[in-house]
Amino acid sequence: MKFKLDRCSVGGWAGKIGPEVLSKILTNIPTKEDKNLIVGYEKSDDAAVYKLTEDIAIIQTLDFFTPMVEDPYIFGQIAAANSLSDVYAMGGVPKTAINIVCYPEREDIEGLGEILRGGAEKVIEAGAVLSGGHSIHDPETKYGLSVTGIVNPDKILKNYGSKTGDVLVLTKPLGTGIITTAAKVNEAEEKHIEEAIKNMTALNKYAGEIMVKYPVTACTDITGFGFLGHLYEMASASEKTFVIESELVPYISGAKEYAKEFFTTGGGQKNRKYLEGKVEFQDIPFWLEEILFDPQTSGGLLFSIPSQYVNDLMKELSALEIKSAVVGTIEDLKEKNIIVR
Ligand code: CO
Ligand code: CO
Repeated sequence: MKFKLDRCSVGGWAGKIGPEVLSKILTNIPTKEDKNLIVGYEKSDDAAVYKLTEDIAIIQTLDFFTPMVEDPYIFGQIAAANSLSDVYAMGGVPKTAINIVCYPEREDIEGLGEILRGGAEKVIEAGAVLSGGHSIHDPETKYGLSVTGIVNPDKILKNYGSKTGDVLVLTKPLGTGIITTAAKVNEAEEKHIEEAIKNMTALNKYAGEIMVKYPVTACTDITGFGFLGHLYEMASASEKTFVIESELVPYISGAKEYAKEFFTTGGGQKNRKYLEGKVEFQDIPFWLEEILFDPQTSGGLLFSIPSQYVNDLMKELSALEIKSAVVGTIEDLKEKNIIVR
């Protein structure tokens, strides 16, 4: 069985509700003070973190979305890699995972089996244990995981705290939204689809395990708000200006051509609108702006680190199959939180 992607309204993270709309309603949700809730949703971080003892805090996340690839087994892998990612983005280790799945009654049940097989493989690769799940019939397939991880409360990586002089590192290339959009209308080359799939199914575990050995000052992962959206969250909460060297930003080959042909997502346009006036682009071509706004499905980690550690860090990261890149530096706050040059 294969998903007919034209039947899915929007695939993957491109379907995420925009940050503008979300921040409006979140202010009306009642909250309760609890000093052990170290990270809640007020800072729009990647996951909730709750301190249990002096040494252990639990990290809790939930992510799920609609298919962005035709193959249910690969979709399962991507959705699971994406759900696990927020634990790595907090500097933690995933321990347990629970499936959440919506599946059409009319669809071949084997497809559901393939989704769950792909997801289970990724959970095992992460070293976590799949401990149950919940499934309902729904006209549109959706899949993801709720993941619980652990972290030392003193070593939590928040999405703010970057210091002037730090260097910014990105651990996966951009462009998965653009490529899957082109693929949906049969306009993408097979090799580009394969490269996007390789990136989307890759766990952030390997880069994360190297990253936590260094004194990282802030970290997040790149998903629906795109590179610039997540960068803006980090830069504004850190009260700094992040200067991005556009020629250093890695993207999947093919993304440039497809962006030039306007295979961009509605999510990318929402991100552009949300960031209007917040980014200073210095002579950046439109296609590159589109890649920087592109919503990523199971994107890489983005983190800042004092510059003296960068050589050792990059040497270690270069041994991984998916190449990381230094993409910019952190400066004192200027007029805008982000400069792309
Ligand atoms: Co995240
Ligand atoms: Co998330």
